[in-house]
Amino acid sequence: MTIEWYPGHMGKAHEQIAELVRRTDVIIEVLDARLPVSSANHLLAELRRNKPCIKVMNKNDLADPAVTKAWVRTFEKQAGIRALPLSAKQHREVNQLTKLCLRLAPTRGKPGRPLRAMVVGIPNVGKSTLINTLAGKSLAKVGDKPAITTSTQQIDLRNGIVLSDTPGLLWPDMRDQVAAYRLATTGAIGANALDYTGVGLFAAEFMMRRYRELLMTRYKLTDLPDNSTALLEQIGRRLGCLVAGGEIDLHRAAEAFLRELRAGKLGRVSFEEPEQAVGDSVGPEEMVGEETRLT
Ligand code: G4P
Repeated sequence: MTIEWYPGHMGKAHEQIAELVRRTDVIIEVLDARLPVSSANHLLAELRRNKPCIKVMNKNDLADPAVTKAWVRTFEKQAGIRALPLSAKQHREVNQLTKLCLRLAPTRGKPGRPLRAMVVGIPNVGKSTLINTLAGKSLAKVGDKPAITTSTQQIDLRNGIVLSDTPGLLWPDMRDQVAAYRLATTGAIGANALDYTGVGLFAAEFMMRRYRELLMTRYKLTDLPDNSTALLEQIGRRLGCLVAGGEIDLHRAAEAFLRELRAGKLGRVSFEEPEQAVGDSVGPEEMVGEETRLT
């Protein structure tokens, strides 16, 4: 499988992020709590300098709570980093972010001295949802186009904080193939760019290793087969993904399985854990061979 989906424009993004960082008091880096390393982009870490950074672990409602706790401990060992798990749709949780921003830049947030915060993150992590909740209204979504400065907008939250929304500045790093598969599993990479069956098999393999009980409960299985193809077939049978003659339609089974997994129907799942995230082995990398590379 070949996925044509490359971040590109990184040189330009580099300059734009550096410039924005200079004018910012607090960086709000939005990550997907289920895969906080694969949904990050190393550019920001390079360009952050000593600016306080809040790693918002969004979609926490879908992530494994124990794993999220471990991530918070890990991130907060780094100087100047705070980690805040939340769901961008929940006002009460998002209010914690406002408070934390003001705490990190105590001389700002006053009349005439607004706190300047910059919201960054790869597409689909929930930046727009978060900004809408913070603003208390629906703002028009600025399109995600790589490195287009004109798309950056300033939003006055009227509570002492002015946000810069920077859609299109950060893109996932697709050179790491396991990370690319994890992003595809959560749907962060658009449907046109992926082969459902390959990603479904990857996700099934991961779930068989890490969340066996969730699989067995959801699909009423008394045991799990020993390979991901057989598992997808069983799931396909349960979900009625059949073709004429009663054969399983593996593509449809993969689609249905991924849809359920992404929506949290199996339960709260995290796709990477602190000790395994970098260069790592939570995922079945052996599946990411020559035949199934994402580019
Ligand atoms: P972006 O600006 O970073 O590109 O992301 P955006 O806010 O557009 O969010 C991408 C998807 O993630 C949206 O779903 C959104 O509803 C969902 N989302 C954002 N935050 C959360 C969260 O905390 N929890 C959960 N479960 N989902 C979240 P969508 O299916 O693309 O659109 P829609 O369902 O909102 O119509």
